[in-house]
Amino acid sequence: MSITAIVLAAGRGSRMKSELPKVLHRAAGRPLVEYPIRAALAAGVTRVVVVTGGPERERLDAHLRAVFGVAVHCVEQATPRGTGDAARVGLAAVDADEVLVLCGDTPLLREEELRQLRAALEQGRSLAFLSARLDSPQGYGRVLRDAEGAVLGVREERDLKTDAERQLREVNAGVYAARVPELRAALAQLRDDNAQGELYLTDVVAWLAARGAVVAVEGPAEALLGVNDRAQLVAAEAALYRRIAARHAAAGVTVRAGALIDDDVTLEPDVEVESGACLRAGSVARRGARIGVGAVLTRCQLGERVTVLPYSVLTDSVVEAEAQVGPFSHLRPGSVLGERAHVGNFVETKQTRLGAGAKANHLAYLGDGEVGPGANIGAGTIFCNYDGFQKHRTVIGAGAFIGSDTQLVAPVTVGEGAYVATGTTVTKDVPADALALSRVKQENKPGYASRLRARMRAAAERAKAERAGR
Ligand code: UD1
Ligand code: CA
Repeated sequence: MSITAIVLAAGRGSRMKSELPKVLHRAAGRPLVEYPIRAALAAGVTRVVVVTGGPERERLDAHLRAVFGVAVHCVEQATPRGTGDAARVGLAAVDADEVLVLCGDTPLLREEELRQLRAALEQGRSLAFLSARLDSPQGYGRVLRDAEGAVLGVREERDLKTDAERQLREVNAGVYAARVPELRAALAQLRDDNAQGELYLTDVVAWLAARGAVVAVEGPAEALLGVNDRAQLVAAEAALYRRIAARHAAAGVTVRAGALIDDDVTLEPDVEVESGACLRAGSVARRGARIGVGAVLTRCQLGERVTVLPYSVLTDSVVEAEAQVGPFSHLRPGSVLGERAHVGNFVETKQTRLGAGAKANHLAYLGDGEVGPGANIGAGTIFCNYDGFQKHRTVIGAGAFIGSDTQLVAPVTVGEGAYVATGTTVTKDVPADALALSRVKQENKPGYASRLRARMRAAAERAKAERAGR
């Protein structure tokens, strides 16, 4: 039995009040539309037709091509004339026997529910759809049943006729499994004589139910949460974050309350993620890595037993095994910390590699550089990498010692084992094992401090007297 999924994603999404198409708004790191597509692929679908439309259509199509390649095919609904019209447009591109129809704005739908719908269809039905019982069903279409409990149809909220109908708490999740010929026939019957003047996909339910071919499968309330506005976007994302945290917990990761882990992040067992840490954009942490309170990682890779202390921000960076970062460190793109390297508070790195065991523990800017294994970078060291026109490199050899408050004016090289004295401005290469020193000689004047103070106090009193005399 061949099966295709259709994802409806051409609606205006006007309740988002956004220039971005609704289904491209992100929740837990992925655009909304990716969730139903992934659920369908996980449920055994090999081809997904996405119905797109509107002025930003190209952007959505390009995104889906880049992420899913040939598994996903976009078709255009030129005018948003309702979910029924969108389903017709999608179905025109389907040549399978069976189809799943999903909405692009329901990110909490899971593979499990889709498998249940497929199983229900196996029992000789033409259409199975997902429903759920909600305490507050407002905004959803209601499932109408007869006295025996058989499905009669789905009625949209704006088209509800009686108080009894308004009391109904079983709602339509907007997710369907159907046999293609029967669905085509039902869609051909649709009319727009309803409150919104649209073609409702939901009207196929009554038409097929009258032929005894419909079943509703009740699923969890969470699965149907649709994102129509910003508040629902945030609510859906909170549910996704809970789900992702539970998934990692089950796999041996400690995720403290309030940590936010995107859907595409990989964590190995014994990783610990503290409250308020944000792990984003495909970041990976190997066994035993610890990520402290408030740390923000975007596209980063942490090796085994790495420690990231609180409030560090790491972007496009690699931290190798047992290295330590933070608190309050900033690893900008292209930073690589070798095994056991340390970067401490108020250290910023960019396009810089620190070799194994190298340390920069306090207050430094290391940009466009290379620091050899075991080298020590003192507090206040700056790689002066930018001359206002070009970026230049600083290279520090293995085991070199850079004293505090050193400026290295790039391009410059410090050889292996060299020693740069505190407060030096390095403008020339330093050979291996040399001492570099550039400071004005110190002079001490005994007893001068109290004379200096007396002079300054007298000057201050004169100035005060002048102000009073004016
Ligand atoms: C729909 C259902 C409702 C169900 C709810 C569940 C209909 C008529 N109503 O209502 O019974 O309870 O979902 O979330 O189907 N779309 C298009 N083209 C269009 C219109 C919509 O592609 O012309 C897409 C939208 O992008 C969206 C999906 O279809 O992804 C659902 O449309 P939406 O307007 O959000 O329907 P609801 O009012 O939520
Ligand atoms: Ca919706």
